[in-house]
Amino acid sequence: MTLLFAAPDLELMAWRTRLAGLAPGRAVVAASEAFDPAAIRYVLSWRHPPGSLTGLPNLKAVFSLGAGVDHLLADPWLPDVPIVRVVDPDLRDRMSEWVVMHALVHLRRLRTYERRQRERLWLDDDTQPKASEVAVGMLGLGALGADAARKLLVLGFRVSGWTATPKTLDGVACFDGPDGLLAMLAGTDMLIALLPLTQATRGILNAALFARLRPGGALGGPILINAGRGGLQVEKDIVAALDSGVLKGASLDVFEREPLPAQSPLWSHPDVYVSPHNAAVSEPGAVAAGIVRQIEAFERGEPLRHVVDRAREY
Ligand code: NDP
Ligand code: OXD
Repeated sequence: MTLLFAAPDLELMAWRTRLAGLAPGRAVVAASEAFDPAAIRYVLSWRHPPGSLTGLPNLKAVFSLGAGVDHLLADPWLPDVPIVRVVDPDLRDRMSEWVVMHALVHLRRLRTYERRQRERLWLDDDTQPKASEVAVGMLGLGALGADAARKLLVLGFRVSGWTATPKTLDGVACFDGPDGLLAMLAGTDMLIALLPLTQATRGILNAALFARLRPGGALGGPILINAGRGGLQVEKDIVAALDSGVLKGASLDVFEREPLPAQSPLWSHPDVYVSPHNAAVSEPGAVAAGIVRQIEAFERGEPLRHVVDRAREY
């Protein structure tokens, strides 16, 4: 019952140690090591090279080591077995921390005060908007978006959310479908994207969408926050919208190209916060425990949970 670790960018030792502690009876091999293909029952993948998971005749499932599965679906040779993604409280809480932090950074105009501090400027000339004056629009209310929405509500933000299918969430004004998106955007001061990257969502954060956001508002203009995927955003449109005042500021954790190229204007834009795709990292202990629990349940005859719908791409 061998697990194949196919995640060239992740630290093998950390994962192997966790998996050995949780499932001592199972061998873990790395894709770079010699192994018997017939022994592999499960693959743990994060951005494996396309085509590298073929020829595993006894494979039962592929586990993504992240919540997103665009990295798996980009492999045209991906074996036809269930794909399981990460849905985990540790990952969820980390994402909500990041989202709440950036919502507050823009609400309380941290950039302005950082600048003034560097200049030793004591100016108490600002009015401070309250969270309750700010309308947040969440793109995606899934495992991550719904939790971030609840935590923003606790802080007093007014929260709406947009999903593919109709949804209800206490305290959140819910929208779906193309008309629902336009209706939500018209009343949104702070747009937070926690969507998966699919054919339907690629490039959705573009000039046409920014133009639909509510101008002005308590923050002086709309804010964009994206921790979903870089492929959701059109970076030249973000820069143009910031420069023309259509957007007031942005916090971006994900990029069209990662690592973000040194020449990208986003690095030095005065109204942009950049983080290196680490809003919510998969902590090996938490994620490995979830995978081992799933494998044990599956082998007892229970169905796998959090299985990706390949047609929907998430
Ligand atoms: P889920 O699958 O639980 O939720 C996805 C949400 O997006 C759902 O509410 C879904 O709607 C909505 N959605 C999907 N497609 C559309 C569409 N075409 N139109 C409208 N709504 C849509 O995913 P998670 O919440 O677990 O994760 C979201 C994403 O966050 C991941 O796919 C990944 O890309 C990213 N991520 C980024 C991390 C980082 O560190 N930056 C870390 C972890 C994840 P519905 O409810 O109707 O299905
Ligand atoms: C994920 C990620 O999808 O870290 O989990 O991006």
